[in-house]
Amino acid sequence: MHAVVLVGGFGTRLRPLTEQIPKPMLPIGHVPMVERLVRRLARGGVTDVVLALGFNPEPFLAAFPDGRCGDVALTYAVEPEPLDTGGAIRFAALSAGIGSTFVVANGDVMTDLDVGALVDSHRSRSAEVTIHLTGVDDPSAFGVVGLVDAQNGAGRVDQFVEKPDPGKEPSNLINAGTYVFEPTVLDRIPADVRVSIERNTFPALAAAGSVHGLATDDYWIDAGVPDLYRAANLDLLGGGRIHDSCEAVAPEATVDPGATVMNTIVGSGAVIEAGTTVVDTVVLPGAFIGARAQVEASLVMGRVEADATVIEAIIGADGVVAEGDHLAFDTMPPTA
Ligand code: GDD
Ligand code: MG
Repeated sequence: MHAVVLVGGFGTRLRPLTEQIPKPMLPIGHVPMVERLVRRLARGGVTDVVLALGFNPEPFLAAFPDGRCGDVALTYAVEPEPLDTGGAIRFAALSAGIGSTFVVANGDVMTDLDVGALVDSHRSRSAEVTIHLTGVDDPSAFGVVGLVDAQNGAGRVDQFVEKPDPGKEPSNLINAGTYVFEPTVLDRIPADVRVSIERNTFPALAAAGSVHGLATDDYWIDAGVPDLYRAANLDLLGGGRIHDSCEAVAPEATVDPGATVMNTIVGSGAVIEAGTTVVDTVVLPGAFIGARAQVEASLVMGRVEADATVIEAIIGADGVVAEGDHLAFDTMPPTA
């Protein structure tokens, strides 16, 4: 089975990390986000993945030069200009010649969903689109559905509202960013223009009655915002994920024995000097944390010099927190 994986967004909410590395290429537990995603799709029966790429395709081509990711054959569809989610799905699916039931996935979703179960639900209900759904406390930041006649989590989606105003959500069930499509959906997406699958296509198809949903309580995170990118990493340390886990410290990292490092992932080539305290943090490959620095609940790709304090901050590849400085709830370099 084919899958289209959407990886062409700008990743603005993870700036400055995404100024150098596209969001789906950022590591989750030492492995690029998109690779963990493709491995999961493969477990659910996907054999061929088309990466729907946009503005910065080179890092993907470099990471998977032989057109394979594990057992999955990878092809690339590079949009001439960003076509938004619906336009990108159409462009990628047609360029790969997809002509039968296929899977679509947002490139920043980490979940334990069994994609095979989503496909089975889609087929048993003769749906045109089946959307994976998950329940959240505050649905307004997501696509929110109304689900009717649900049995064992599966029902018909009678409404789809993308990012509704708080208080206007039809339910607490949200679009979890993995879909099964019939190829007929592609005929409903206009060619060569920006189309949002969430704002344009799903509401119309839901009104026509051909969208179904499957709600599950599997582990689920959209890793596209800083706190959840951090959580998606740290959740791999606890043994709570079904198929995914990782070592806290990459073998090629250098952590001084006199450093205190707790609930933290340290990437390849990173250096943590003596006397530091690093807690609840993702230290990305190549980062530097100098002697006696204190780092808490942060994402560090650049440099934290000696005796600096960093709390709930994001340090991009070019970011330097100078010796003895204090940075909290902010980014370095600053982002607009
Ligand atoms: N190729 C391509 N071209 N990909 C794109 C484009 C584009 O123009 N625009 C966005 N994408 C990709 C992003 O890279 C990402 O993988 C995916 O589409 C979704 O975009 P996000 O920017 O992450 O959307 P979101 O998180 O605000 O909302 C989406 O995900 C939620 C669940 O995580 C929506 O699908 C919501 O309905 C959903 O609830
Ligand atoms: Mg997202």
